[in-house]
Amino acid sequence: MEQLVIQGGYPLKGEVAISGSKNAALPILIASLLCEDEVRLTKVPRLRDITTTLKLLALLGADIEQDGQHVLVRPGHLLPEAPYDLVRTMRASVLCLGPLLSRLGQAKVALPGGCAIGARPVDLHIKALEKMGARFELEGGDITGHCNRLHGARIHFDFPTVGGTENLLMAATLASGETVIENAAQEPEIVDLAHFLMACGAIIEGHGTSVIRIQGVDRLKGCSYAIMSDRIEAGTYMAAAGITGGELSLTACPFAHLGAVVRVLRDMGMDIEEVGDRVVARAQDGLHCVDIETMPHPGFPTDMQAQVMSLMCLARGSGVIRETIFENRFMHVLELVRLGAAITLSGKQALVQGVKRLTGAPVMASDLRASASLVLAGLAAKGTTIVRRIYHLDRGYEAMDAKLTRVGAHIRREQQR
Ligand code: EPZ
Repeated sequence: MEQLVIQGGYPLKGEVAISGSKNAALPILIASLLCEDEVRLTKVPRLRDITTTLKLLALLGADIEQDGQHVLVRPGHLLPEAPYDLVRTMRASVLCLGPLLSRLGQAKVALPGGCAIGARPVDLHIKALEKMGARFELEGGDITGHCNRLHGARIHFDFPTVGGTENLLMAATLASGETVIENAAQEPEIVDLAHFLMACGAIIEGHGTSVIRIQGVDRLKGCSYAIMSDRIEAGTYMAAAGITGGELSLTACPFAHLGAVVRVLRDMGMDIEEVGDRVVARAQDGLHCVDIETMPHPGFPTDMQAQVMSLMCLARGSGVIRETIFENRFMHVLELVRLGAAITLSGKQALVQGVKRLTGAPVMASDLRASASLVLAGLAAKGTTIVRRIYHLDRGYEAMDAKLTRVGAHIRREQQR
């Protein structure tokens, strides 16, 4: 198992190229199961979760070719079953339900268990697909679904679930008639998925708003499509510039999708500007804490909560961070406290009191964004920080240690001792 060893205290300076979005690439790759012709994708990030998804598509019968950030998916003889061994490593596998039911009229997907950040049930996905005519059984840890051709329906989500909206959007493209999704999630990754599906012949309106309308069609062709840039990766590097007192110039940065994040970082005292085709993030003068509440898009993203918490650890004053999306997304707090941070937890809230310095120590990553927050804290801490279990980081950040090294970080990857 690998770990990262970080010597802190070096301001980051230079250019970082933002990779393709993990949370757009995963549903788009799975949506390729809907297509009857080949799909060519570019800007697919090289991540552990992408590798798992390609394995899943191959297991479901698709023919896959990958060359760096280029992926070619050729439809094969589609099979209805997504096995537990893959699903347990990546919950997004549950997104296969919609495409398999609409292409084959049957699907068998292992029920994803809980995860470090919360219970994460899929009841809203199931309830909505049932409205479209699917019938489900849960047996031996697997969800088995059957249907004749799915039919259009009016679906109102109790909560704007990202995965639920993606599953329904995919299922509705080949259903008979019109589907209306109300209280839909509005994340940019859903818009990217809709654009991909439309490039394959789907008829969709309202993506990016809380009401999405889909007219079912008989078949989807293939297409060539470039995955959008990763707004969470970009936000993470902005925070890295802030916590090290440096200046980073981000290329291929999806600035338009970072409204709430940029507002919070500017409120904390950072300079963040679009300069030509780049975004420059710098923090020359000290930062101060603010209050944050995570919300569905366009609110402040839960996937940036941990990274901004690290930033606040070294800012003046105090601030309250309220996590409203996941019930257990403060696993990084005690690790940050090991580095000398002053954070008090009570229920869904964390009170961060800024301190003068953090001091390096060995810490343990528990999930993807928690690991990014520990790397950021290590970049600013005095002395050596060792971040363990970085397989979490590799799930969602492409070559983070290499990118950081190029802008002046003293960081190396090594086998855990
Ligand atoms: C997506 O997860 C992202 N993952 C998550 O990013 C992100 O944190 C989340 O959306 C919220 O923005 C991918 O896109 C692959 P949800 P998803 O369905 O689809 C509850 C990262 O760090 N819920 O919007 O699982 C659920 O438990 C990852 O990149 C139900 O109760 O999120 C949670 O509390 C982590 N029943 C809330 O809704 C359901 O059927 C939001 O979940 C579905 C969800």
